[in-house]
Amino acid sequence: MASLRCKLSPYFNKARGYIVLVMIVVSLATAIGFSLWFVGNYVDSKSGPGTDPLVLRLDAFSLSNFEVSNWSLSAEWEAKLTFGNQNGGLIVTLNPFESYVNYKESEALSCASVDATLHIPPRKQKTVQIKFDSTGCEGEQPYVEDRVMKHLSEDKKKGYLSFSLKMHIDASYSMKELLGMGTQAALNPNCSGLKVELLGSKGTEGKINGGHKCSIPLPK
Ligand SMILES: *[C@@H]1O[C@H](CO)[C@@H](O)[C@H](O)[C@H]1NC(C)=O
Ligand SMILES: *[C@@H]1O[C@H](CO)[C@@H](O)[C@H](O)[C@H]1NC(C)=O
Repeated sequence: MASLRCKLSPYFNKARGYIVLVMIVVSLATAIGFSLWFVGNYVDSKSGPGTDPLVLRLDAFSLSNFEVSNWSLSAEWEAKLTFGNQNGGLIVTLNPFESYVNYKESEALSCASVDATLHIPPRKQKTVQIKFDSTGCEGEQPYVEDRVMKHLSEDKKKGYLSFSLKMHIDASYSMKELLGMGTQAALNPNCSGLKVELLGSKGTEGKINGGHKCSIPLPK
């Protein structure tokens, strides 16, 4: 018996060593996994889209050089937008994005891009000026159907036009003290119901009076 034990014991020791090593590795992995899960949940609860940090205001919206017939359309729009970060601890980052002027709610008329990345620190705001002309979005402008131009020329006679401003923005929300981590969100700000009164005898200019609050539906 004694001799058998002596023979086996190096193997027992070795096996015991492996078991201890495996246990250490497993518990370390569990601890690290749990911490990551905990930190991830914490960051999400502070920086998720559900915290609703971003608000958007349209400060000014104007139309110039507006010419429309049943078959052709030319116009320039200018929009001044202010993005406000109402959260006290999050930095909101907006990637470069494209914006569209629509006739009423859904007929796209013109595209313009904002080429800069906007970082909006906690409780700060940033204003961007967007000019819509035929050169925006690398010259790739929406195709406007004859039907829409007919509606526009009919509305022009009435003296006012209805527009909306839409954009799609890939944003990220990150915590001040945890830069780099954060939550990605696809935002679709919507400035709807922009009623522009046409001025001048030819009705080629127009603007909205006062500011306008835009909505940013919470991403799902
Ligand atoms: C434009 O279209 C409207 C409606 O179809 C029509 O009544 C009008 O005569 C057209 N105007 C011109 C200049 O073709
Ligand atoms: C924008 O808001 C208007 C008015 O609330 C709504 O009718 C329209 O469907 C919205 N558009 C988008 C793309 O969310």
